[in-house]
Amino acid sequence: MSTVAIQHIKSDGHQVILGRHCLGEFAELLSTEAFSGAKLFILVDENTAKYCLPALISKVSILSDAEVLEIGVGEESKSIEISTQLWSVLSELNADRGSVLINLGGGVITDLGGFVAGTYKRGIRFFNIPTTLLAQVDASVGGKVGINHDGLKNEIGLFNNPNTVFIDPDFLSTLPRKHLLSGFSEMIKHGLICDKDYWVKLKEVSFFELESLDESILTSIKIKNEIVSSDPFESGRRKILNFGHTIGHAVESYSFESDTKEVLHGEAVAMGMVCESFISHRMGMLREDELQEITAFIFSHYTRIFIDQLVFHRLIELMNHDKKNRDGEIKMSLIQGIGNAVIDKAVKADVIIDSLNFYARWVN
Ligand SMILES: NC(=O)c1ccc[n+]([C@@H]2O[C@H](COP(=O)([O-])OP(=O)(O)OC[C@H]3O[C@@H](n4cnc5c(N)ncnc54)[C@H](O)[C@@H]3O)[C@@H](O)[C@H]2O)c1
Repeated sequence: MSTVAIQHIKSDGHQVILGRHCLGEFAELLSTEAFSGAKLFILVDENTAKYCLPALISKVSILSDAEVLEIGVGEESKSIEISTQLWSVLSELNADRGSVLINLGGGVITDLGGFVAGTYKRGIRFFNIPTTLLAQVDASVGGKVGINHDGLKNEIGLFNNPNTVFIDPDFLSTLPRKHLLSGFSEMIKHGLICDKDYWVKLKEVSFFELESLDESILTSIKIKNEIVSSDPFESGRRKILNFGHTIGHAVESYSFESDTKEVLHGEAVAMGMVCESFISHRMGMLREDELQEITAFIFSHYTRIFIDQLVFHRLIELMNHDKKNRDGEIKMSLIQGIGNAVIDKAVKADVIIDSLNFYARWVN
């Protein structure tokens, strides 16, 4: 499969535009009356400053005059300290309510930039130009923005949609393989929660020919967009997107507080999907052969994450802070067969421990 033609996908009050030449439309939009005289700011991290900013400016020449705000790489930047620094810089550079922030980067940049834009002077306009696979198929779409707090993922944040999301898969050519795989994990999730045919197609994906990914990127964006548009504030159905994330977020949070190697978001979600598939099976919703199929596929792509059994209780403590919980119970989004998710399933701590032991058996 080759590249797809430019796609315009309507979202909740804004558009997601996908295609290898879509930034030409961004250039046209910025030259319209609505943006005349607006101060333009581009948020980047060290890598996107190097690998993505030159390409963006060459395609959208008006941005050569924009102020570039550069932050350090990685999850630690999704913090109140960096947010404060960005608010201060915007203020020093006289950003006003008409100013525009352009988030050029992965999920860290789109989460943080959307949060800073949504809170500075009670909100300024912003665009997302995601440059990682994870941000293209997931983080940049759906309006959830925020920062980590007290070691907990996305603890502070808001729902805040960008003006437009421009997704240009060309940016992925410089992305390291482990980050491609991290994003792929959210694509696997999309298949598992609501599209069995897509799950089957994903098994044929090759990372050696990046252009062959374009159609899958489009499918994932459509799936995510359809779900978030049907439930923008996550009061019900949108929770299916959290499959793999109750355990995944706990593993990610644990990796921040311990000396273990940093676990990428998608790697943690891949582990979470194995454990939560086990739980789905244990609760009678997923057949044994389906559990084996999911587990084998995930382990064929992802390195096992080693977590000592002595810290399982700490993971449960972290899960007790999950935003989906109600009435003191850990609530999970699980799957009832491949391609069909269910929400708000109360899961007991001992079943979660069993799922972590199931995962650990594959590691050893
Ligand atoms: N808001 C949401 O709905 C949502 C959904 C899923 C994940 N997230 C969040 O997204 C974050 C993870 O996003 P991520 O995986 O994109 O991480 P990231 O933003 O840290 O990017 C990963 C790495 O790739 C580098 N990079 C980015 N683009 C590049 C390019 N084109 N070439 C070379 N290097 C490049 C970055 O500098 C970084 O080192 C997490 O904080 C997670 O919580 C948010």
